Amino acid sequence: MSDDVRAGLEGVTVAETSLSRVDGEAGELVVGGYPVEELAGNATYEEVVFLLLEGRLPTADELDSFRADLAARREIGEEVRNVLRRAADEGLPAMDALRMGVAAANLGGETGDERETASRVIAVVPTVVATYWRYREGLAPVDPRPELGHAANYLFMLTGEQPTERAVRGLESYLVTVVDHGLNASTFTARTVVSTESDVVSGATAAVGALKGPLHGGAPGPVLDMLREIHERGDPGTYVRETLEGGERLMGFGHRVYRVRDPRAAVLSEAAEQFYAGSGQAEFFETVERFERVAVKALAEHKPDRPLETNVEFYTAPLLWGVGVPPELFTATFAVSRVGGWTAHCLEQLADNRIVRPVATYTGPTGRTWTPVEER
Ligand code: COA
Repeated sequence: MSDDVRAGLEGVTVAETSLSRVDGEAGELVVGGYPVEELAGNATYEEVVFLLLEGRLPTADELDSFRADLAARREIGEEVRNVLRRAADEGLPAMDALRMGVAAANLGGETGDERETASRVIAVVPTVVATYWRYREGLAPVDPRPELGHAANYLFMLTGEQPTERAVRGLESYLVTVVDHGLNASTFTARTVVSTESDVVSGATAAVGALKGPLHGGAPGPVLDMLREIHERGDPGTYVRETLEGGERLMGFGHRVYRVRDPRAAVLSEAAEQFYAGSGQAEFFETVERFERVAVKALAEHKPDRPLETNVEFYTAPLLWGVGVPPELFTATFAVSRVGGWTAHCLEQLADNRIVRPVATYTGPTGRTWTPVEER
């Protein structure tokens, strides 16, 4: 590969942003000026999305009105439900259903105002995911409740039952923690789409497509399978040794940017610890923590020159599973949160836009001459 090609755009700076800062060496994540640890322990998802969209935390009145605005934009029409039912009946994955549902988000009286469209897209993602899931389970969809917050509504629409405080708090911490993370692949995709002066619905739809891939949004499902297997076998050391000796990777470890423990892993481990304490499943969480210790030590011996630490997916898996999100919806639940970041990045890109247009080094043939089809 030629020297001036930066595969995967690694290390290439293509935008300025005031939304989040990722420091991979120090293991720090700042969202809207606040360390992620501070937000995860205190904020609701609505507060953090307001912070991203407006550049500051809302006052109490502003928060009430933002919550009401989201509540008014949550419902989806019968046509969209039909598409989601068909996706569920055909056994399509949740991310395919979500892509179709987000693409239809501007049905039903959109004004063309991109800031309002951002609220609509953010509001509708949990409804789309939960509706698809209800059909997958052979159940009727559950309408959102205007008095419930974003996190509580998602759990309510999934199960049809009022979620516990403990579950809402656990999910809220997750949604706040993963809402934005620099120019990850899906966020860059959304910015690229709107850089053509396209629109927020198109940007978010493309971002869902980018998040679907296993290299970006697909790891927490396999992490959970691994943790459950280890919990049953009760022997993390053997599992770690067999995996690494077999040339396979341990899911939930390693990161393109972080060279120390992902700060989101620390936040989510605390949220998961609080959730599991007194939940009746505390033993499972003990296995998770024991496994992390064994794995980190083994990875350091396995690859002494390459720091391989715990990433965000490791604690995402037990936390989401604990609060009642089915593993088939883990990646879609990532989107329930990250859509806040995608839409804020779309608005930031539109406010100071230059079309994204990199170049490629041509490596194909040259000098060919045309041969008529009957002579080929
Ligand atoms: N377990 C074991 N070895 C690992 C590893 C893991 N989880 N992650 C990386 N490595 C090893 C690789 O085998 C490679 O070794 P090599 O140089 O001998 O081939 C080396 O570390 C560098 O890996 P590389 O794939 O170049 O790193 P990357 O920055 O491109 O990839 C990830 C980052 C996250 C894709 C990678 O660490 C990974 O696959 N992790 C497991 C999946 C996961 O948890 N994904 C969720 C990410 S949030």
